[in-house]
Amino acid sequence: MKKQTLVSGLRASSEPHIGNYLGAIRQFLKYQELHDCNFFIADLHTLTTPFEPKELRKNALEVAADYIALGLDPKKSTLYLQSQVAEHAELAWIFNCITPLGELYRMTQFKDKTGSANKESVNAGLLNYPVLMAADILLYKAEIVPVGEDQVQHLELARVIAKKFNNQFGKTFPEPKALLESETARIMSLNDPEKKMSKTGGQGILINDSPAEIQRKLRKAVTATDATGKSKGVDNLFRLLREFGNKEQIQFFENAYQENTIKFSELKDILSEDIAHYFAPFREKRKELLNSPEYIAEALADGAEKARERARATMQEVKKKVGLL
Ligand code: TYM
Repeated sequence: MKKQTLVSGLRASSEPHIGNYLGAIRQFLKYQELHDCNFFIADLHTLTTPFEPKELRKNALEVAADYIALGLDPKKSTLYLQSQVAEHAELAWIFNCITPLGELYRMTQFKDKTGSANKESVNAGLLNYPVLMAADILLYKAEIVPVGEDQVQHLELARVIAKKFNNQFGKTFPEPKALLESETARIMSLNDPEKKMSKTGGQGILINDSPAEIQRKLRKAVTATDATGKSKGVDNLFRLLREFGNKEQIQFFENAYQENTIKFSELKDILSEDIAHYFAPFREKRKELLNSPEYIAEALADGAEKARERARATMQEVKKKVGLL
């Protein structure tokens, strides 16, 4: 298989949840063996929603520890903080100047995040979020971007921006494609399965949650059915069981569901044990890593240096094409 360039990132707004893991991070681990991989912590994107400077710094380092503890190898992939490679923001500015406002206003994430808020007071970073994302990707001329389903629209916009730039200034960027895990691109919230599991609201199972915390959250998971007898909550629990459970458990609960003898309390407790067990080695490794923050800082500094080298080359080309000296 031809080696391709791949870019993706996580925000540093909180500890990742199992949706982030199943939709995105697990793909990163798979692809680091096959492709030219660039994974970063999107700390600049984290500034678009309310944050505490102290927390931001702590979370960014913890997400780096998460990446490594989950198996991301800084020797195989380039691992860095977005804010430590200034070219991300520089390219985003140039992209801002070729992106129509209309494209940004129609982004679902922008609409969801601003909701009924008075648009006059919404920060401009939230609107320009996907432009910075396009810069994150195109700076490395990436062709593939492993993400969850909620980011697909942003990837479409990255392609629009690449095309626009190429048309206006000459062929420079590839048109990057989103790569989704078909079964797990959208893990739903436990207490509101109409919505995706998200970092806000505390309804997500965090990959670093203790076994007791996982159990507490799962016990509250909604399993109500709708008028047609379907239940998004139940579908979501089965999806998780298929990812974290063993064959016998899956078979047992699928049969019990068919036969209408299923006890959801039992399924939830088994599933909590499975999830806690799955992430146990990760939790240990993470704790160890956080005891040597200098190792993480060094890995990030090395990563930023590698990333900067490529980013600089792209920016030289871009500036020349645009007419900047
Ligand atoms: P973040 O941190 O919000 O999400 C990180 C990744 O997790 C995926 N994801 C999910 N997957 C399945 N089910 C869910 N419930 C779920 N919730 C989140 C997201 O789709 C994402 O892939 N905007 C990005 C960060 C970013 C980025 C980039 C990604 C900034 N620049 C450039 C790729 C390329 C984000 O949503 O982060």
